[in-house]
Amino acid sequence: MGSFGMLSRRALGTEVPVMTQIRELAAELTNPMSLAQGVVYWQPPQKALDKVKELVWDPAISSYGPDEGLPELRVALQKKLREENKLTKSAVMVTAGANQAFVNLVLALCDHGDSVVMFQPYYFNAYTAFQMTGVTNIIVGPRHPHTLYPDADWLERTLSDSKPTPKVVSLVNPGNPSGTNLPEPLLKRISDICKDAGCWLIIDNTYEYFMYDGSKHCCVEGDQVVNIFSFSKTYGMMGWRLGYIAYSENLDGFAAELLKIQDNIPICASIISQRLALHALEEGGGWVRERVKGLVKNREIVKEALEPLGKENVKGGEGAIYLWAKLPEEHRDDFKVVRWLAHRHGVVVVPGCACGSPGHVRVSFGGLKEEETREAAERLRKGLEELVHRGMVE
Ligand SMILES: Cc1ncc(COP(=O)(O)O)c(C=O)c1O
Repeated sequence: MGSFGMLSRRALGTEVPVMTQIRELAAELTNPMSLAQGVVYWQPPQKALDKVKELVWDPAISSYGPDEGLPELRVALQKKLREENKLTKSAVMVTAGANQAFVNLVLALCDHGDSVVMFQPYYFNAYTAFQMTGVTNIIVGPRHPHTLYPDADWLERTLSDSKPTPKVVSLVNPGNPSGTNLPEPLLKRISDICKDAGCWLIIDNTYEYFMYDGSKHCCVEGDQVVNIFSFSKTYGMMGWRLGYIAYSENLDGFAAELLKIQDNIPICASIISQRLALHALEEGGGWVRERVKGLVKNREIVKEALEPLGKENVKGGEGAIYLWAKLPEEHRDDFKVVRWLAHRHGVVVVPGCACGSPGHVRVSFGGLKEEETREAAERLRKGLEELVHRGMVE
């Protein structure tokens, strides 16, 4: 008996990506508006795009580069990490986006049979990255019901009670889908808990500049901590696929293992994307923050649209580009609600079940300009009013 036609249990056991389901759903509609995907509406800095336009004939652009990233980009990133993130002892590897960075880390740190820890609601791609690499023992911990902060007391107990000790704790800060920003003392406490337990802590800082109402993003550093960053949302570079990993420079052998994986998957991140990133960094965080300021209005518009669910049921929005809303008890089937909202009201959001929290929806306020956000939010508000007062009528 041959093995043709038999697919891996790892792949079969991995959830279907929610964003592909959402795209299929949107394709069934005539004029959908999306508050679903985590994207921003802006493009990379004009000056940076103009500079790379001139580079396309340079043969180096079409060749491979060093697996770990162009030296000049890595130098610029280390400077940025030192000055902005206060990460002074970190080495850098450039990746084809933050998602690839995460998979690279899971492959470098975890074995089949290891357990790992996430907090619910979690970032769906981090969950599936564990699943698809055979790390199926995923311990999902609680968050505080009001703040949505990860429960550090639970983490401390779980890391000391679970034998063997879980290998990795995974966090996103500011959160996707929670939209919350972790206060520095909590982040430090979680980092210390991981250190004491001998467990890795991976923090995804994709939304580092997406902070509102005067709050500040912070990072922690330590031999047990690995930080991930992305150019996707910050510089509007989603399609350029560029991110990076910052890890302790004291770790013997860590870089060598990361490089094995890197060399077998992308080899290197796209060279033109790295050059664009270098020029985008010349514009700097100020350029990003200016655009993030413009999202405050979008957040307000979308928050208002969620009011039919009851103000107490809407959380997040302190950071990142997400609001997280609880659906009425009688409508716990969030995917059904998402399909109904799409077909009847022409607006698409993400079902909470994809993040381990059925009965909720994630709503993004970053992907559309203000006028379009208003239109999408109006559809959402009408839909939710109908849902609350009349149910899912056809
Ligand atoms: C928390 C988080 N990490 C990573 C990504 C993907 O980033 P990248 O495009 O750099 O792979 C996203 C995109 O939505 C995200 O929200």
